[in-house]
Amino acid sequence: MRQERSARHQSTANGLAPLSLADIHVAYATKGGMVQAVRGVTLDLLGGESLALIGESGSGKTTLGLSIVRLLASTARITRGTITYRRGEQQIDVLRLKPPALRRFRWSECAIVFQSALNSFNPVVRIWEQVWDTAAAHGWKDRPAVRRRALELLRFVQLDPDRVINAYAHELSGGMRQRVLIALALLLNPQILILDEPTTALDILTQRSIIIMLRRLKEEQKFTMMFISHDLAVAAELADRVATMYAGKVVELGPVNDIFYQPRHPYTLGLIRAVPTVTGGFEELASIRGNPPNLVHLPSGCKFHPRCPFATSRCKTEEPELEAVGPDHFAACWNWRDVAAEVEARPVHAAATLQTAVEMPADQVERAM
Ligand SMILES: Nc1ncnc2c1ncn2[C@@H]1O[C@H](COP(=O)(O)OP(=O)(O)OP(=O)(O)O)[C@@H](O)[C@H]1O
Ligand code: SF4
Ligand SMILES: [Mg+2]
Repeated sequence: MRQERSARHQSTANGLAPLSLADIHVAYATKGGMVQAVRGVTLDLLGGESLALIGESGSGKTTLGLSIVRLLASTARITRGTITYRRGEQQIDVLRLKPPALRRFRWSECAIVFQSALNSFNPVVRIWEQVWDTAAAHGWKDRPAVRRRALELLRFVQLDPDRVINAYAHELSGGMRQRVLIALALLLNPQILILDEPTTALDILTQRSIIIMLRRLKEEQKFTMMFISHDLAVAAELADRVATMYAGKVVELGPVNDIFYQPRHPYTLGLIRAVPTVTGGFEELASIRGNPPNLVHLPSGCKFHPRCPFATSRCKTEEPELEAVGPDHFAACWNWRDVAAEVEARPVHAAATLQTAVEMPADQVERAM
């Protein structure tokens, strides 16, 4: 598997991102009006990187992930924008793919592990049959080869392959099912893996063991991954870059340490300061005041202004776009310099806290695996 991956990565080492989103807008038609779930997201996913999308519930993270693989609900429309997928010299306009090519794209190029997919296994079918169905649906006819690949992947995700391949889903714990889902997503050797809340439904020890496994995937295989998570600890542990989403927009984007130590958007700062410390630090626990906006009737100007402690009159009328606030670091805020001054005056030590929060004694983690 490693050889196959490195060949793929050579093929994308031409400097172009394997995935580029440009000005993506997604809306859901509802009785109450159009829910503007994603509003103009422009984002590159770089070869071999892991990018975390963070933000409160309802900020549009899942909608953005599902747009990439075009698995949105039937009431959703991508109303504007382009999604470009690249492999080597090949360039694919994802939003124009016809059904057979789209199916191929979803498993062979860009696989997704859904939020709450843990309960989506068919309870009366063994894991092997589910693997085989997936492989066969993509034209793979060589049963022994599929089985070998499945066993190899199950071993990679640190499961006992011979036991798990013959098991029914109900015989597996939540953590084991999550590993099987990740193995299944890797079956057709995709270039990109999107993981929507990969640890959310799991207990803390199981979360930890999944994080360790994903870190191996990232470090050993140099996989290109997008994590969607409202859990900042997952982002701190796994991401090279972090994008904060608010009301359907990316409002801050940058290297993981810049985001957690030097946030420049008041919303990111609020998210970080709302994380309780478990290490005995003295970070003040504060929550972000107010509620997420109504996505049918959005506020004027900057969508965060009704909740923002840094808001000024301009914020009520003009919506800021992302601008450079440091090398490879961008924020959409008129007053990011004030945020910088605040962070200077009262430093955040979130990343250390978050990373320590998921450190656990190795023997406990072993037991959770
Ligand atoms: N099928 C749907 N029909 C109508 N509105 C929807 C649908 N799916 C999502 N939405 C709305 O779109 C917005 C974005 O939802 P989305 O699920 O993308 O957010 P999220 O950031 O993934 O949240 P969470 O952290 O809770 O998973 C929300 O306001 C949500 O209510
Ligand atoms: S633009 Fe204004 S309201 Fe928006 S985040 Fe910045 S300071 Fe707050
Ligand atoms: Mg979601």
